[in-house]
Amino acid sequence: MSAPLLEVEDLTIQYSTSEGPVTAVSNASFTVDRSEYFGLVGESGCGKSTIAKALVGGLDDNGYVESGTISLRGTEIQDFSEREWNEEVRWDDISLIPQSSMNSLDPLGRMSDQAVEIAQTHTDMTREEALDRFRELFEIVGLQPERIDEYPHQFSGGMSQRVIIALALYLDPDLIIADEPTTALDVIMQDQVFRHLDQLRDEFDTSMILITHDISLVFESCDSMAVMHAGQIAETGSVFDLYDEPRHPYSILLQESFPDVSDPERELGTIDGTPPQLFGDVSECSFADRCPWAVEECTASEPPLEPIDGNPDHRGACFRRDEVHELYERDRTPSPAGGDGA
Ligand SMILES: Nc1ncnc2c1ncn2[C@@H]1O[C@H](COP(=O)(O)OP(=O)(O)OP(=O)(O)O)[C@@H](O)[C@H]1O
Ligand code: SF4
Ligand SMILES: [Mg+2]
Repeated sequence: MSAPLLEVEDLTIQYSTSEGPVTAVSNASFTVDRSEYFGLVGESGCGKSTIAKALVGGLDDNGYVESGTISLRGTEIQDFSEREWNEEVRWDDISLIPQSSMNSLDPLGRMSDQAVEIAQTHTDMTREEALDRFRELFEIVGLQPERIDEYPHQFSGGMSQRVIIALALYLDPDLIIADEPTTALDVIMQDQVFRHLDQLRDEFDTSMILITHDISLVFESCDSMAVMHAGQIAETGSVFDLYDEPRHPYSILLQESFPDVSDPERELGTIDGTPPQLFGDVSECSFADRCPWAVEECTASEPPLEPIDGNPDHRGACFRRDEVHELYERDRTPSPAGGDGA
């Protein structure tokens, strides 16, 4: 059996801070296959961008992979040098549309020169071929092709986002990571960007990791997904698994807090409390303080991400994953005597 395009296993990422190491990602595991759209969802600060940056070797200077592996087609890449990331991974294998695109373009270079440099590092395209290709991409993302010679500051915020998307698509990478790709765009443009990304999958078999806080967007546009909470992957599986049968309390409550197109009348839920910041080694379920069904066991160790109902593709990190659906149904059904149903 051939290795998946991307396999992340037990990945722990920390940031050094003056208060000690902060664990931004703890023991995360997931895979993305060829032409698969994978959604990574969770509240602000749960570690989504940290994972995105780690997958292109672009962690902030104080960030590091503490343990675990990132494998691209079976080759471990987490310990690559800057040169290896540049020559062997970025742009032609994995490209990132970063969350804050504004700072990711070199302000001193014309866009055309930046594109030619990328093309010449990774391909044997001539300068003219590289420029033609970049003009094509400008058209695809709705920018006038003659603007390729402009400097980053000449583009508005939304246009810079599209320039970044053009660069990310430039060398037909196998995997595009789109970190909140549409936050800087208006609704019409958001729609257009998603159509471009879909076209890519049809044309080039491209895979995507779509990062967002919006679980309904993931249900609509992805094949599989992971729900993160405070650095831990709470649940992962196909979008059908997580939509029809979420088994982690956080996935259930997160789903309830977003409108459902198939049930517009449903009342939206809220999730009380805030996620903890995790210092050093993680030794409990990160959702324990907020979970309606927490028991003593939940703070004694970190729940491992384990198969649900024997399905290796649907995994949950909850000690009570086999009973949580029942607990949820019990608690949402008012008791006949008008009690609290508990
Ligand atoms: N350079 C850094 N130094 C220290 N802590 C950091 C650094 N970057 C991120 N963090 C912390 O790591 C955690 C994860 O941050 P990250 O940016 O990955 O979250 P996110 O899920 O992308 O959030 P958002 O939805 O707001 O973009 C947060 O607690 C954040 O404060
Ligand atoms: S392990 Fe415990 S605290 Fe964590 S989600 Fe499951 S029931 Fe809730
Ligand atoms: Mg982020």
